[in-house]
Amino acid sequence: MKIAILNGSPRKQNTAAMIDAFAEGAKEAGHEVEVLHVGRMDINGCKACEYCHGKGEGTCIQKDDFEKVLPAYKTADMLVFATPVYYFDMTAQIAAAMQRVYCIGKPVAKKAALLVSSGSPNTADGPFATYKGYCNYTGIEDAGTFYLHGEENQDEAKLAEIREFAKNL
Ligand SMILES: Cc1cc2nc3c(=O)[nH]c(=O)nc-3n(C[C@H](O)[C@H](O)[C@H](O)COP(=O)(O)O)c2cc1C
Repeated sequence: MKIAILNGSPRKQNTAAMIDAFAEGAKEAGHEVEVLHVGRMDINGCKACEYCHGKGEGTCIQKDDFEKVLPAYKTADMLVFATPVYYFDMTAQIAAAMQRVYCIGKPVAKKAALLVSSGSPNTADGPFATYKGYCNYTGIEDAGTFYLHGEENQDEAKLAEIREFAKNL
């Protein structure tokens, strides 16, 4: 499978450790993995101008880093959304990258997974709700979700669970 991971974190720390574990497992199983560092990209929110659904014919009027993400929505078999919790939600960067898929309607991917990292426990209801809604709306199968918080971040046993999951997609 071709797997695209959207990394919503601007830092190379806790979310990155989850992504590395997932990517290691997936590559070991022979999958092709691409990480899109949307947390460090300049991606604006959707302007709801509807250019994409008219004259634009599936292209967005905004010329920004979303152009680097769109090919993954058109070709990846699996999407992995990886994000730290920022104020009880996904980061604004990954939210923008997810919402801008509006120009083509839905990704072609058949499977998805969610990786979430936070400082405190029980703060990830927002990212989980957004992800579940996104999967339901797009018809993408939720293959699995992982949530590490506080001391669990960077925990080798927890990361091994993610690695193992990615080996058996
Ligand atoms: C702007 C900002 C907002 C945050 N909001 C929350 C929050 O609402 N709940 C929480 O538990 N942690 C919160 N955190 C902590 C991060 O979710 C946590 O440190 C996470 O592990 C960071 O992942 P990273 O290393 O990939 O950046 C916040 C951090 C930042 C920078």
